[in-house]
Amino acid sequence: MTPGPSARSRITGTGHYVPEKVLTNRDLEARVDTTDAWIMERTGIRERRIAADGECTSDMAAAAARRALEAAELSATDLDLIIVATVTPDMPLPSTAVFVQTKIGARPDCPAFDLAAACGGFCYGLTVADRFIRGGARHVLVIGVELLSRVVDWSDRTTCVLFGDGAGAAILSATDDPARGLLSMTLHADGHYASALRIPGGGSAEPVSERSLALRRHFVEMNGREIFKAAVKNLASASLRVLEDAGVSPSEVDWVVPHQANLRILDAVAERSGIARERFYLNLERYGNTSSASIPIALDEAIRAGSITRGQSVLMCALGGGVAWGAVLMRW
Ligand code: ACO
Repeated sequence: MTPGPSARSRITGTGHYVPEKVLTNRDLEARVDTTDAWIMERTGIRERRIAADGECTSDMAAAAARRALEAAELSATDLDLIIVATVTPDMPLPSTAVFVQTKIGARPDCPAFDLAAACGGFCYGLTVADRFIRGGARHVLVIGVELLSRVVDWSDRTTCVLFGDGAGAAILSATDDPARGLLSMTLHADGHYASALRIPGGGSAEPVSERSLALRRHFVEMNGREIFKAAVKNLASASLRVLEDAGVSPSEVDWVVPHQANLRILDAVAERSGIARERFYLNLERYGNTSSASIPIALDEAIRAGSITRGQSVLMCALGGGVAWGAVLMRW
């Protein structure tokens, strides 16, 4: 195979990492005014993972990346680019991607950058990586990783029950196999929803101050209903768009590996898109919403379990803060 500007991309390896510590809905009952029954009924989440003290985003990302490289039978020095999709970086400067580069032993001249598209991050990352492959890169590492437990307000029951920590990774490689690979993708964003899900403090708009800390401006704020409605509408339309672009009908979709935010959102997306609900691969009961990490974690689980088999069509779709959303269709 000679990769070049016309090469297509295909996922050649996936991996994931979740921290050991489990935080159940029952544990949360002791912290805030909530119940296991409320959380299960409204979201479908039963438990989530929480990073250990001292563990940071790049540690989780590197662990997932090593597993993806092993699955792809590649060495870190084979990588031509590292993309880390995250809104919970190790620090504002430098990028988390450069820490990952050194932790996994990639070449010191391998380009590496972060990409911020919140829960939409993995679809954005795959799309950007695909463009690099078509431009001549051979192997691109795409990681979705979040350490949300450090930016969640643990006294706010409307948000703290939703999120969890974790990382997922995929290696995108150049291929000339016409039967496999990424078939179609679409990306969108609508900044009119910017205030529906945000961490308002800590950036240039509201630098850290005693006042901003006292007002808890450094934690996630969310208008759940607004996000819910935007998710249902846009996930369904983006999914239908990539199917149409690839000439695949909803009934021909073998698997949907969606962003794992909320069971009710996914029920509604299934109904609107006409894709059978049984085709959706779900693990949010065990991990909660891990934002940009949720698709690659679920994808890796489904592949390693043998659920996704060669030649099957796999649709990935995600929406998150911004709002930013997208969908990617591939043949495995
Ligand atoms: N436990 C018990 N009661 C709660 C809790 C809780 N954890 N959280 C909120 N409530 C209460 C509210 O205070 C409210 O009480 P009130 O009627 O006395 O005011 C009541 O439950 C209903 O609140 P709503 O916000 O209307 O509940 P809703 O059915 O919309 O469910 C939820 C809330 C689960 C957040 C839902 O809106 C949702 O899933 N939205 C999508 C948000 C999301 O997934 N965000 C993640 C990031 S973006 C993404 O990944 C897509």
